[in-house]
Amino acid sequence: MLQVIGSLLSILAATSFANPVGPRAPGWSFNLKGDSGLVALESIIVSPTLAVFFNKALDDPLQINNHSAWGALWNLETNEVTPLDLQTNSFCASGALLSNGTMVSVGGDQHGIAGDGTMGLRIFEPCDDPAGVGCTIFEDPENLHLAEKRPV
Ligand SMILES: *[C@@H]1O[C@H](CO)[C@@H](O)[C@H](O)[C@H]1NC(C)=O
Ligand SMILES: *[C@@H]1O[C@H](CO)[C@@H](O)[C@H](O)[C@H]1NC(C)=O
Repeated sequence: MLQVIGSLLSILAATSFANPVGPRAPGWSFNLKGDSGLVALESIIVSPTLAVFFNKALDDPLQINNHSAWGALWNLETNEVTPLDLQTNSFCASGALLSNGTMVSVGGDQHGIAGDGTMGLRIFEPCDDPAGVGCTIFEDPENLHLAEKRPV
């Protein structure tokens, strides 16, 4: 009798492994790749291997030049992060890729640990290096900014 129960259990086990809950319903799943050290509040793919992330200016763990970085390059191949030294607060900025491949981020917020971003203009030129070596964000708030403040 014990033997019969034993083989019955193994049949049940084999059956349930083969088809645990019937066909899988379509849905989302997350595949955690690593830790960027900042929240990717704004994100744009700028090359086959690179994404640019902007957060608002916060005390994110990711550091650059002795302060929290609220911008970063994320390497989609290696899952490594390179901080970007943003100067103005990119919170609520908008942006796009121009037809020549240059990424432009416009506007932002005036609060936080950064310079006033309400007239912010941030430029990321096309990057030839797959790992983003030598590629960085260009920002010169004194000389290059929007003509008017973003409404707040
Ligand atoms: C960062 O802080 C250290 C220690 O206070 C200092 O020696 C260094 O010059 C600072 N670096 C920058 C980029 O400000
Ligand atoms: C693309 O056009 C913008 C606006 O004219 C310019 O600032 C930028 O340098 C250009 N990028 C390239 C890669 O030519």
